[in-house]
Amino acid sequence: MVHPASELGAAAAPLLDVTVHRKAFDQRPVLQNLRLSLRPGEVVSLVGASGCGKSTLLRIIAGLDTDYQGQVLLAGQVQTDITRDVGFIFQEPRLFPWLTVAENVAFDLGRGGRHHPQVPLLLDEVGLAGLGERLPKQLSGGQAQRVAIARGLFTRPRLLLLDEPFSAVDAFTRIKLQEMLAGLALRHGVAVLLVTHDVDEALVLSDRIVVLEAGGAQPPLEIAVPLHRPRLREGAALATLRSQVLQALRHAHAI
Ligand SMILES: Nc1ncnc2c1ncn2[C@@H]1O[C@H](COP(=O)(O)OP(=O)(O)OP(=O)(O)O)[C@@H](O)[C@H]1O
Ligand SMILES: [Mg+2]
Repeated sequence: MVHPASELGAAAAPLLDVTVHRKAFDQRPVLQNLRLSLRPGEVVSLVGASGCGKSTLLRIIAGLDTDYQGQVLLAGQVQTDITRDVGFIFQEPRLFPWLTVAENVAFDLGRGGRHHPQVPLLLDEVGLAGLGERLPKQLSGGQAQRVAIARGLFTRPRLLLLDEPFSAVDAFTRIKLQEMLAGLALRHGVAVLLVTHDVDEALVLSDRIVVLEAGGAQPPLEIAVPLHRPRLREGAALATLRSQVLQALRHAHAI
């Protein structure tokens, strides 16, 4: 079923509760009267037309953009800056080319962090065991994005923000990375807010899908995905939900 955003996600104390009364660029409003909350460990996908403000919202939540009216609450605390509790993974890996894979993963601790015991564990988890001494130029695009995800998890965040993280890789790599992310989210118990243009990606990974409309005149619609994670993309239940998401995207003028 499609619900207004305000009716969902209110059962447990939220990990994230973000309110944006107004966010504008050059007096042009991009986000208005938006409220979004995530429970601890919840996976939520954010979909919507290009330019509707998805990346802007992620930057606000991450503390990378503080020029807006509203507030970000993380476990009830007002956030006004970047924090180790929130990891950010971008569309491209953004690795430091002069640092090894291990140094990139442990970047939070500086160069000495490469010997931290968590580094090989994380590299193993993202399927890069033994590649800690490589430089980013010696990696494929998919491998580099795995490093970025390991780096995002290194600080043990409670919330992981991902902005179209798999859009630059081929279709098969993408499925593998989606499955990897599904496993990581469960094992680490981390909440995930994922921006994607891929409806199937949103359906396979999320507990809820939030559909954002450009201009923010309407509150976002939400579609609950009441299926256990990890789940099979081939499942029949997803086909019904897929049509609901497409309908909501049409309603939001995204397609
Ligand atoms: N730094 C900026 N200065 C001026 N306008 C900006 C800036 N950043 C974003 N915008 C504008 O704000 C709007 C929302 O941008 P945003 O990047 O959040 O969209 P998006 O939903 O992530 O789009 P896409 O799906 O294409 O990534 C767009 O119209 C964009 O042009
Ligand atoms: Mg964007």
